[in-house]
Amino acid sequence: MKVKFLGHSSILIEDKNFKALVDPFLKNNPAYIEDPNDILGITHIFITHAHGDHIGDSAEIAEANNSLIIANAEICDILYARHKKLKYHPMHIGGAFRFDFGRVKMTNAVHGSGFRDENGIIHSGGNPGGYVIEVYGKKVYHAGDTGLTIDMKLLEKEKIDIAFLPIGGNYTMDIDDALEAARFIVSKVTIPMHYNTFGLIKADPLEFKNRLLGHIVEILEPSESIEI
Ligand code: NI
Ligand code: MN
Repeated sequence: MKVKFLGHSSILIEDKNFKALVDPFLKNNPAYIEDPNDILGITHIFITHAHGDHIGDSAEIAEANNSLIIANAEICDILYARHKKLKYHPMHIGGAFRFDFGRVKMTNAVHGSGFRDENGIIHSGGNPGGYVIEVYGKKVYHAGDTGLTIDMKLLEKEKIDIAFLPIGGNYTMDIDDALEAARFIVSKVTIPMHYNTFGLIKADPLEFKNRLLGHIVEILEPSESIEI
């Protein structure tokens, strides 16, 4: 399995015939380094919550690739009202589903999920979440945007291979809380995300790496990949 970091909270997961984006915030993402291959042949798009820096370019990419959109039921409803021809798989927190590539579980995130439409009206995107995505036996946890929650202790039994955790603070966990989260989760590799993209989420990923003793931390620059 190859996982490419696309900057902010966007990742690309590839293995065999599976090619998925999580939170594809690309066009307006100042950290994204464009590569046309990142949006070609996308089979699945996972959306953690409705904030613009996560829902990003989901509809456009799904339309171009006939990708299956996996999101909470409210986001699927909202997208369906606007894009009736796209394919959706609604899920919700605590729910798991076995796809042909493996089991996906939607996890809790402590955050918001509202968004503003073109008329300036705020809609609820349901509860925000994260995902444990198993792909041919390997597991990636994408926490979404979240504060530290004791629920993360439950993830230890999932035996996660790669955990993506926000460290930027202000809207999500900062380094102190992300360290605690990583100690709860005990993944083989921990990768920080959601930092330094905007002014309010400044954090030093090296500090996170140096303080997470006894764990493997990979700091991925946008466009860098990890293979496991
Ligand atoms: Ni958010
Ligand atoms: Mn965010």
